[in-house]
Amino acid sequence: MTKISDLRKSYERAELNETASQTDPLQQFDQWLHEAIAAELPEPNAMTLATVGSNLRPSTRVVLIKGYDERGIVWFTNYESRKGRQLAGNPFAAIQFHWVELERVVRIEGVVEKISNAESDTYFNSRPLDSRIGAWASPQSQVIANRGVLVANAARYAAQFLLQPPRPPHWGGYRLKPDGWEFWQGRKSRLHDRLRYSPDGAVGWVRERLAP
Ligand SMILES: Cc1cc2nc3c(=O)[nH]c(=O)nc-3n(C[C@H](O)[C@H](O)[C@H](O)COP(=O)(O)O)c2cc1C
Repeated sequence: MTKISDLRKSYERAELNETASQTDPLQQFDQWLHEAIAAELPEPNAMTLATVGSNLRPSTRVVLIKGYDERGIVWFTNYESRKGRQLAGNPFAAIQFHWVELERVVRIEGVVEKISNAESDTYFNSRPLDSRIGAWASPQSQVIANRGVLVANAARYAAQFLLQPPRPPHWGGYRLKPDGWEFWQGRKSRLHDRLRYSPDGAVGWVRERLAP
């Protein structure tokens, strides 16, 4: 059987350098995300979201990015979930994308706020009906007695709302406004490329290379 301590891989697919990369991290992100989509990676828009609770302990979970622009990175969830409660107490969060097949990572840090009700409504109404019912049926992150609770909730809300469930007040979007980005490209011999973008009032962003 393979020992996990013997598992190792040489990263040789691509490079990330100062001349070929974008000066604006949002454009660099846009380029890499579209390359991940074009490469037909599984769930290219899945990201790990880290939040910190009032006990100062971090926690992570996977969520799907549903939009991004110069205002920030948007995802949707239950505002009363564990992450929602943590963000209500501490708006600082971090996001990580790991596109394994492309040997790439993007790390983004910043401050999170809820998006507008109108934006959340628009996205909610674009979801399939069972997902919209699911947002009502699942008290996300709460203890439930058994799976039957979810099935019964879904049946109850489906009967109540028929084809037009409104957006639950506890469900909507968040936007992380980045104040730091890092792009990582795996390279040979563990000499990986890392470019960090930090805010710079004069020129927008300053780009620096970090040692791997
Ligand atoms: C690929 C993938 C995508 C997911 N996308 C979301 C999402 O967009 N929103 C969400 O609330 N949970 C999503 N989840 C579930 C979360 O990982 C997590 O279980 C849930 O949000 C509860 O997290 P919390 O208790 O830390 O709040 C996703 C899980 C996976 C594996």
